[in-house]
Amino acid sequence: MSISEVKEMMQEDLKQVTDLKLLNDLRVKYLGKKGLITELNSEIKNVPNEEKRSFGQQVNEVRTLFQTTYDEIKNHLEEEELNQKLASEAIDISLPSTKVNIGAPNILEKLIEEVEEVCMSMGYDVVDGPEVEEDKYNFEMLNIPKGHPARDAQDTFYIEGEEILLRSQTSPVQVRTMLKGKGEVPIRVICPGKTYRRDDDDATHSHQFMQIEGLLVDKDISLSDLKGTIDVIVKKLFGDDVETRFRPSYYQFTEPSVEVDISCFNCKGKGCNICKNTGWITIAGAGVVHPNVLRMSGYDPEVWSGFAFGFGAERMAMLKYDINDLRVFYNTDLREVKNFDRGEIENND
Ligand code: DAH
Repeated sequence: MSISEVKEMMQEDLKQVTDLKLLNDLRVKYLGKKGLITELNSEIKNVPNEEKRSFGQQVNEVRTLFQTTYDEIKNHLEEEELNQKLASEAIDISLPSTKVNIGAPNILEKLIEEVEEVCMSMGYDVVDGPEVEEDKYNFEMLNIPKGHPARDAQDTFYIEGEEILLRSQTSPVQVRTMLKGKGEVPIRVICPGKTYRRDDDDATHSHQFMQIEGLLVDKDISLSDLKGTIDVIVKKLFGDDVETRFRPSYYQFTEPSVEVDISCFNCKGKGCNICKNTGWITIAGAGVVHPNVLRMSGYDPEVWSGFAFGFGAERMAMLKYDINDLRVFYNTDLREVKNFDRGEIENND
């Protein structure tokens, strides 16, 4: 093919291009290894010497023409492609949206936050502890030695032998906090967290539940300090007219130990099914930190004293929100959650 034939054909071809694929095919057709322009180039050896220069120039012109036209078309096609993509992905903001079911804060979480808030306002820090715990912290350093019957009451999940377990209470965080405190005072912490016991799940039991542990260590701390603190928390959560009473109890890590009851906020003491007609509801275990516990964690009980408490979080939430089945905290059925009737869930079914 002569130079002018190739040029003519090339110009015709380029006019027909409608997409990038065709354009690329043309690049191969003209500039590829066996492309027409490439072939013209190799023909130069057959051209008589005196014509070589002009022949070469002409081939170069055709090649340049191809290249510039090719570039122009390519830019144009790419731009077009981009515009199409933008157009197809455009969002029509004038369309009405489909409403979605939004979730609501889990009320257990809400309750814990409320306790955290009131405690922080009294100078407490919120701390954390591991759920996979050592026997040493969960029991031994809380004055519950191996073989002690108090262990039986907390049917514990052991993970590795007798040393590693799922904590059966948040009380080990007391020990960890004191060890970290290295004898410094005051200590004022609360620790909300998951705990585990080998229980069969039903409306009032769960193998996994939450406690909110509290610990204060300072000088001359007494049971009445504990009472005052619990009173503030309870009133904040259940209302100003709710009263607190302590009943003697027994825990290995506190002496004296108490059960914390609150007056029934539902019937105001008259008796109802929430308080099982007693007028009172138990919400926590508590007491004055046992000297052994202080000592084992590096606090001289001759100098320092403290109180501790452990709220049952689900129990408090059940009372506060009038829920009669503990399992609702751990299922994600929106219909159930809606039954809590907090008006926070919008449903557009
Ligand atoms: N850890 C106890 C339990 O799980 C609750 C408890 C009682 C915590 C007395 C305390 C306390 O901090 O002082 O039953």
